[in-house]
Amino acid sequence: MSTPTNPNNLESFWMPFTANRQFKANPRMFVGAKDMHYTTAEGRQVLDGTAGLWCCNAGHNRAPVVEAIQKQAGEMDYAPAFQMGHPKAFELASRLAEMTPEGMDHAFFTNSGSEAVDTALKIALAYHRTRGDGARTRLIGRERGYHGVGFGGISVGGIVTNRKFFGSLLNGVDHMPHTHDLEKNAYSRGQPEHGEELADELERIVTLHDASTIAAVIVEPIAGSTGVLMPPKGYLQRLREICTKHGILLIFDEVITGFGRTGSAFGADHYGVTPDMMTLAKGITSGTVPMGAVMTSNDIYDTFMTGPENAIELFHGYTYSAHPLACAAAIATLDVYRDEDLFKQCADIADYWEDAVHSLKGLPHVIDLRNTGLIAGIELQGFDGEPTKRAFDAFLKCYEKGLLVRTTGDIIALSPPLMISKAQIDDMFGILSDVIKNLD
Ligand SMILES: Cc1ncc(COP(=O)(O)O)c(C=O)c1O
Repeated sequence: MSTPTNPNNLESFWMPFTANRQFKANPRMFVGAKDMHYTTAEGRQVLDGTAGLWCCNAGHNRAPVVEAIQKQAGEMDYAPAFQMGHPKAFELASRLAEMTPEGMDHAFFTNSGSEAVDTALKIALAYHRTRGDGARTRLIGRERGYHGVGFGGISVGGIVTNRKFFGSLLNGVDHMPHTHDLEKNAYSRGQPEHGEELADELERIVTLHDASTIAAVIVEPIAGSTGVLMPPKGYLQRLREICTKHGILLIFDEVITGFGRTGSAFGADHYGVTPDMMTLAKGITSGTVPMGAVMTSNDIYDTFMTGPENAIELFHGYTYSAHPLACAAAIATLDVYRDEDLFKQCADIADYWEDAVHSLKGLPHVIDLRNTGLIAGIELQGFDGEPTKRAFDAFLKCYEKGLLVRTTGDIIALSPPLMISKAQIDDMFGILSDVIKNLD
């Protein structure tokens, strides 16, 4: 006999990236969402300062997206992804190809950012091997990078707690230094002035291993999950130059910088640097149905399109690659972005946002404020010997006052839906300022 459903039993669900015991002793439950707000189980409205987890860029429960998902569920639930297709998968891939930088016209679909990252790393290795350059097996990431939780992603990632419990990870991975420099760059608006030369660390790694052994470099244009680190001026350009010079593929992990978050469609557009591959997820469906994608350059795709026509070119894919519900949700989401000009709306409100972020300067415990588009990082001085506690207290107090924020370490990260109004920005920073002033 199956166990009767018991919503009051919180034990069975092992919650991801959560302090399970703390949560279960004092649960925070959302039961509804609309536009900029969540509704809690107690019936309170909570302003969404984080677009869920950096994903609901179009806002919550938008009618065109909800209707497209409902319609698709009634028409066709699922179609096999291997050796079969359905029209919306092709439509979505071409829509993405139109949006992404020129020459990046191919989409490989996954179900999450983590899968997109592992897919991109595998494509990089297979690309070099297919070209007869199979000694290029090294992958280079960066300290403090977050690339999801697959073994590939945590290997190239640089967040110690996400790595140290999980064995020896992938072989042949190196890391560039992170770019965070509070002494030189604190309170930067947009890109920090100092740190371009940190890209030259890639040259040092190339000298150590030889370019002929290196397949790819992966970085987030803006490092989000580690606490919002903006790329120093010139840094991404320099990485691009070094990769091109040595025949190394450059992968931008755009899982959070994609779909308007910076005020441009992608980080690549915002910073004027075109990588060879981009990983996407989150905003692709505005968080409504799980989906990820890897966009590849035409050169990469064409390299695989050789050999007998009936042969599979890439031995990789997921049962749910290009799932019909996800494709329907993504197409409707892209329509909302376009019809409401949401990326431009983000760009237009970015200055107002910037001023609101930097209005927190001088409050107790605040040691840095940084921003780009509709992104902000508020770095707090942690308690001695108790890292993360002060920011987590801030998170709980904000929630009590009706604002959802996200914390990582002692940094508060903000990334609201792109439809946020000036009045809502005022509300958000009113609550934040009040909470920060009253922190222990
Ligand atoms: C840059 C980046 N890459 C990958 C991921 C992983 O995405 P997912 O949680 O959908 O697997 C994230 C998630 O926050 C991310 O920020």
